Amino acid sequence: MYTERLLRVVAVAAITSSVLSNPIPLTREPIENIPRGLPLVTDEVLLFDAPAFRTGEGNELTASIRMFTHIRQIDSSIISGALTTAIEALGIEVGNKAGNLFERTKLFFAIPRSGIEVDLNVAGCDSFNVGDTSKGGLLERNAAIGACGGALSPRTISGVAPGFFSSRPFEATLFPSHPNGFGVVSDVDDTIKVSNVLDKKQAVKSLFIDDHEAVGGMPELYSQLDGELGNPAWFYLTGSPYQLYPSLRKFIFEKYPKGPMIVQNLTLTDVQSILKFVLDDNNVRDYKIAQMEKLRSFYPQKKFLTIGDSTQADPEVYAEIARRHPDFIQCIWIRKVNEADNSDERFATAFKGVPQAKWKVFTEPSELAELDVATGKCN
Ligand SMILES: *[C@@H]1O[C@H](CO)[C@@H](O)[C@H](O)[C@H]1NC(C)=O
Repeated sequence: MYTERLLRVVAVAAITSSVLSNPIPLTREPIENIPRGLPLVTDEVLLFDAPAFRTGEGNELTASIRMFTHIRQIDSSIISGALTTAIEALGIEVGNKAGNLFERTKLFFAIPRSGIEVDLNVAGCDSFNVGDTSKGGLLERNAAIGACGGALSPRTISGVAPGFFSSRPFEATLFPSHPNGFGVVSDVDDTIKVSNVLDKKQAVKSLFIDDHEAVGGMPELYSQLDGELGNPAWFYLTGSPYQLYPSLRKFIFEKYPKGPMIVQNLTLTDVQSILKFVLDDNNVRDYKIAQMEKLRSFYPQKKFLTIGDSTQADPEVYAEIARRHPDFIQCIWIRKVNEADNSDERFATAFKGVPQAKWKVFTEPSELAELDVATGKCN
């Protein structure tokens, strides 16, 4: 099902073309002739929260760093007004939520900045330098950060970009985690956040306008799991593109146990990637499988509880990883979303080869409250 992805692209395309009076594809090519190296006064850095894991024999840690660099945007009430008009033309009431709309769409208009490197500090660990960002302004690198005094608590990663009058700090949270113990991987849309991905108009509204709303009972369940699994490592794995990261991150940090969110690279600057995003049904599936494999390469000895829903490919993704690496996946929970494909055949096919005792499809989070994941009681 590509409903959600299609919607996002259509909505963004509608807004984009209306704001810029310019049909997609946009040719917002990165500007090539400005210097490479440390950020300039005109650059902005979005640093993502990063997992860190032990490497080698000792306590040495490696951080998995991701960032997006772009030309600094001037907050403009003109763009804000045009966005509101474009969304209201789709028959969606913006009301007093123009702020949400602007915040959630502004990175789609950002002009990527390539060739940027940054110096980063992690409180109590070694400083390091990462570079340089790709043509699309993105970077993903592993960086050695030392032993950090042997502690595995969350820390701040920070850097600075020069400003016109004073320097502008940017920061994210580093989440180091023990090689053993439990981890939880959770999907976001329609698993922990009401997204209405199956109702087009509602979905656009949930995505761009409404304050993000937690799925009933899920914050309580996650808080309970956080205690029962002995402070597991939390990861939020979503098919959403990185442009939506800031607002989703804020929502998760307010309502759920904190952990890095893994988002997709989506560059709306070329036709190829738009088409791939929209038409390739396996896109989210393949991306999620690849990200699960990456997590396993960071934490090969951990055991994971994976939680998702029935709207997209979560059952298929988690089952595939459980077949490949039975010891890595402790339990799989799938939230049944009304009007998605909830047929017995779908789940039987998805979970073929995965022991019945490992997975459960649920409607109410209360069905899970009594289960003891730590001892392998998944259903
Ligand atoms: C995202 O883009 C960066 C920079 O080009 C790349 O290193 C990384 O592998 C990409 N990640 C995914 C999931 O495609």
